[in-house]
Amino acid sequence: MRKYVIDGRRPLYGDVTISGMKNAALPIIFATILTGSRCVLRNIPFVNDIMVSLDILKSMGAKVTMLAKNVVEIDTQHFEPGTSPVELVGKVRGSTYLLGAELGRYSSTRVTWPGGCDFGTRPIDQHIKGFRALGAEVETESGFIVAEAKNGLKGDSLYFDVASVGATVNVILASIMAEGTTIIDNAAREPHIVDLANFLNTCGADISGAGTSMIKVRGVKSLHGCDYTIIPDMIEAGTYMAAVAAAGGCVTVHSVITRHIETISAKLREMGVSVEEISSGVIVSSNRVYQSTNIKTLPYPGFATDMHPQFAAMLSLANGVSNITETIWESRFRYVDELSKMGASITVDGRHATIIGKGHLSGAPVTALDLRAGAALVIAGLAAVGTTEIMNAENTIERGYEDIVGKLQGIGADIRCQNEPEPDYLLRAN
Ligand code: EPU
Repeated sequence: MRKYVIDGRRPLYGDVTISGMKNAALPIIFATILTGSRCVLRNIPFVNDIMVSLDILKSMGAKVTMLAKNVVEIDTQHFEPGTSPVELVGKVRGSTYLLGAELGRYSSTRVTWPGGCDFGTRPIDQHIKGFRALGAEVETESGFIVAEAKNGLKGDSLYFDVASVGATVNVILASIMAEGTTIIDNAAREPHIVDLANFLNTCGADISGAGTSMIKVRGVKSLHGCDYTIIPDMIEAGTYMAAVAAAGGCVTVHSVITRHIETISAKLREMGVSVEEISSGVIVSSNRVYQSTNIKTLPYPGFATDMHPQFAAMLSLANGVSNITETIWESRFRYVDELSKMGASITVDGRHATIIGKGHLSGAPVTALDLRAGAALVIAGLAAVGTTEIMNAENTIERGYEDIVGKLQGIGADIRCQNEPEPDYLLRAN
């Protein structure tokens, strides 16, 4: 097991560069199946969830070649549908996108239930509703989701009951080559949906409205390969911004689309942390003294649920009492017990947490229970007095943060990885 050891209370100074967005790269990797051709994807973050997804494609007959660090070529000409490896599919959430991609290319699919971080129930009823609207029959049998459109998929209008990222991605994928026009109402508006649409349009698809709550997909006959660069990861950027706020210092965060992090920047400014926009990103400076605030997570452009645990760590050090309301994932508060071991004062009542800022945390042995919970512990460890040991980093933090140890060391953090010298994904990058 890989653990991170952090000696905290060192301010952070220098420059950090943000990697490509995991949650954009995942759907785009699976979307290459629709092209049946060769795609070159740049700015792919080499994190564990991406590596597992590439392994899934490889095991299903796609040719995957690492052209350089963060550049991957995927050729899906000889992709074999319905052969997804059960164990790998169960490791990542993004594997749900196999459903939409296989259905879109072959009008049928058979995939086992996906994995991903455990936040309580993660239903896929909206995905299924979307597939059915396109004319597919969908069943679950022996742990598999099976869908088939015997007469081919046909575009239709559908309304999602919740603005789901995954369901929006899956229906876009399934409808790309459907007959006629598909209209998705109450679609998710996240930047990764826009990035997926941009990728698919570059491959010859006809998608409009991505980034709004109504997306229109006009079916095309076929797609072709392309060369595409993934957008930067707004959650990774926000995590480093929160780390600087909590630990103090001044860091320039490069490769950021500032529009994507507006909510995060606004919250930090409201708390008294300086965030200055520059052409390549933002400069964040903090003297570690900032005010409490209230947060309610919402779909984009609201405050991202994937930034909630990192802000909870930061708010444990604020002046005053903060409240966090989590509206997306009912069980996202699993980090609270771990932060409490470091002296945080957080009480949870259902979907609400009250945090009494103490201005002080102390290092402790803790366990990362999911990706963002792990990131929250890293932030707490950077700001805490003494040594923090974070267990289970490879199964959580390294699913979504590329070279987090190296990047933090680069801005002066005293953090090291124990038990293994280097994460697997860096060794494989060659
Ligand atoms: N929902 C339904 N029915 C569905 C689908 C979703 O009720 O069929 C509900 C969920 O229970 C949840 C809400 O809708 O309450 C939003 O879920 P969504 O489908 O948007 O989430 P997801 O696609 O499973 C993605 C990200 C998550 C991120 C959420 C919300 C990926 C691979 N995962 O999950 O990212 O928290 O959107 O923004 O894109 C992370 O990166 O740490 C992470 C967990």
